[in-house]
Amino acid sequence: MESMQELIEKGRQYVMNTYARFPYAFTKGEGVYLYDMDGKKYLDFVAGIAVNSLGYGNEALISNLNAQMQKVFHTSNLYWIEPQVKLAEALVQRSCADKVFFCNSGTEATEAALKLARKYGSQVGGPEKCQIITMKNSFHGRTFGAITATGQTKYQKGLGPMLPEIVYAEYNDIESVRALASKEKTCGILVEPVQGEGGVIPADPAFMQELRKLCSELDILMMVDEVQTGIGRTGTLFGYEHFGIEPDVIALAKGLGGGMPIGAMMAKDFCASAFGPGDHAATFGGNFLSTTAGLTVLSEIDRMHLLENAQKQGTHLQERAKKLQEKYDFIQEVRGLGLMQGIVLNEASLVNEIRLEAAKRGLLVIGAGYTALRMVPPLIIQKEEIDAGMDILDEAMAAVQK
Ligand SMILES: Cc1ncc(COP(=O)(O)O)c(C=O)c1O
Repeated sequence: MESMQELIEKGRQYVMNTYARFPYAFTKGEGVYLYDMDGKKYLDFVAGIAVNSLGYGNEALISNLNAQMQKVFHTSNLYWIEPQVKLAEALVQRSCADKVFFCNSGTEATEAALKLARKYGSQVGGPEKCQIITMKNSFHGRTFGAITATGQTKYQKGLGPMLPEIVYAEYNDIESVRALASKEKTCGILVEPVQGEGGVIPADPAFMQELRKLCSELDILMMVDEVQTGIGRTGTLFGYEHFGIEPDVIALAKGLGGGMPIGAMMAKDFCASAFGPGDHAATFGGNFLSTTAGLTVLSEIDRMHLLENAQKQGTHLQERAKKLQEKYDFIQEVRGLGLMQGIVLNEASLVNEIRLEAAKRGLLVIGAGYTALRMVPPLIIQKEEIDAGMDILDEAMAAVQK
C-alpha cells in the first residue's frame, strides 16, 4: 500500500495546483473524528468546510444512500424524481420560500440566484433593471457570475473582465446600499447572513431589516447566500431567521447534503415564476442520491435535535474561545453565530502557524479572511469534544506565542 507521503507526492504531480493543501490524507471518519493514512486521529472542527453536518458514519445517511443506490441513482430532470420532490416539499415547509431549484454546489446555487434576479428584473422593469448589489468582503463562489458577485478582488485577479452591472456595497452599512440601489436599475441584492470566507462576520440585525425594507420599497429581490450558514450551522435552520426577516431568494449547499454534493436555490412564488422551462438547468441537479442525503440530513437534524445542539454547543465554543482571548494578546476578537465561530488574530501569519500546531496535536481548524481561525464542527459535536478541541487549540496557541 502507498504511504501518505507517496500519495501526496503523486497528488502534486497529477492534480492541478489550485489548493494550498495541508499534508494529510484521511481514510476514515467516525463521529467528529477523522483518521489519516497513518492511523492518526484528529478532532475535526472543519467538517469538510462546514459540510459534514452529521459528522462521519451517520447510520441513517449510509443506509438510506445504500438503499437508494440499489434502486436507481440518475435519470435526469426530464422526469420526476421522488426524493427531489420530497426534499423540495420539506425545504419549503421549513422556510419562507415556495419553490426550489436543485443544483450541485454553492457556486451553482448563487449563480442560479443571480440569473433569477436578472430574469425577474427584466420582466418587471425591462432590460435596464439588471444591476445586482453584493457586499464587499463577501464570498459567493467561483463561476464567472459568482466570482463577480464575490466582493473581494483577490479572487478576481487575472480573470477579468468581470460580469457587468454587479456593484459592491459596504457590509452592515445600509447607507452604502441605498447609495447604489434604484428601482429602475437594481434587480437583486445578495448578502450572507454571516460572511464566512470573509472572516466569520455576522450581519447586523438592523442592517438586514433595513435591507429587507429597501428591497420591498424598490422591487428588488433580497437574496441571502446561506451556502455556509444554512441547514442548522448557526443554530437555526436558516441564518436569516436570526434577523426576523423573510428573504425572497435563498442559496443553499454545503450542509444540506451532509457530504453529498448538492446545491439549492429557493424562491418565493412571485419571483420563482420568472423561470420557465429551459431558463435554467443542471443535468445532475436534485439527483436521487443527493436529495436522499438532503432528506436524511433534515430528518436527522430533527431526530437528534441538532438545531438546539448547535445553539448550545455554539455558545460553549464561543465561551471557550473568549477564554483564549483573555489569555493570548494576539487574539483581537471572537465572533460568530452557533457552530460557526471565528477567532480573529492580529497577524495573518499566525493563522497557518496555529493550524499546523493544532493539526500536529490532533485538531483540524480552518482559516477565514486573512486573519481569522474558523471553527465549523459537525452539528453533532458534544461539550466534551469541544473542550478537548479547545484544550488542543490552547496548546497550539501557546506553541506559537512569541
Ligand atoms: C457563502 C458561500 N457561498 C458560496 C460558496 C461556494 O460554494 P461551493 O464551493 O460549493 O461552490 C461558498 C463556499 O465556501 C460560501 O461560503
